[in-house]
Amino acid sequence: MAAPALPPGSPALAWRVEWLDVAGSTNDLLLERARRGEAEGLVIAARSQTRGRGRRGRGWHSPPGAGLYFSVLLRPPKPPAEARLLTLLAGVAAAEGLSSLAGPPVGLKWPNDLRVHRKKLGGILCEYEPQGGPPPAVVAGVGVNLTGEETDFPAEIRGRATSLRLAGKAAPEAEETLSLLLRHLDFWYKVFLNTGFEPVRTRWMELCDNLGEEAAVSAEGETLRGKVAGIDGSGRLLLQGAEGRLLRAEAGEVIET
Ligand code: BTN
Repeated sequence: MAAPALPPGSPALAWRVEWLDVAGSTNDLLLERARRGEAEGLVIAARSQTRGRGRRGRGWHSPPGAGLYFSVLLRPPKPPAEARLLTLLAGVAAAEGLSSLAGPPVGLKWPNDLRVHRKKLGGILCEYEPQGGPPPAVVAGVGVNLTGEETDFPAEIRGRATSLRLAGKAAPEAEETLSLLLRHLDFWYKVFLNTGFEPVRTRWMELCDNLGEEAAVSAEGETLRGKVAGIDGSGRLLLQGAEGRLLRAEAGEVIET
């Protein structure tokens, strides 16, 4: 379980981890703490969630003992547009950390699906909260399926979801997996603060598992189609469209075609 060394001159963030047996949503709990002015570095982790939230208004299946569900509070001293890049940074940290466990690599699908063999292993929900700052808070929520079997997943995601165990990877206890991911998050957050987004962007491209493949992105009634060409410096997805035109997707979800 290799963890990257911190960039020189960077003390590790003092993570303060609070573990709960049950939470509604760890993001909701942390957003509330952020509004009340909590300092960066607080982590709320739960062994299960009753109202786990995913991207685009979906729920996040969070049964007891089968997954890791946690949220971290960061306050990057950056303008909002740059702070939003933390969603991609959290994906890099999680994919890299989980890839270091024995077994097949964990890849990224834009914006931040964690995947093994094209099946969803986990996801990230980043939310921005200016109240309680400055600096504004970014709450990065991470959900990883650790031990679920095929039949444990709800019917609507069965066949498209996986867990570390199901994917043939080592599946440490939730506490150990959390420490691993926090070490990687710490490293990439420091890189971002010291150097900017470019190294994160480069690493994201290395971890992306559908580079060069045909894909479509639907957002606000429009569908962009092309070959996945990476991300730009603002975190937008680049698609190489017909006649070599480069298209940029700001939000939405990639549908493989
Ligand atoms: C996605 O849709 O891919 C994002 C899923 C994010 C789930 C995590 S679990 C911990 C944190 N609390 C939540 O309610 N959601 C995030």
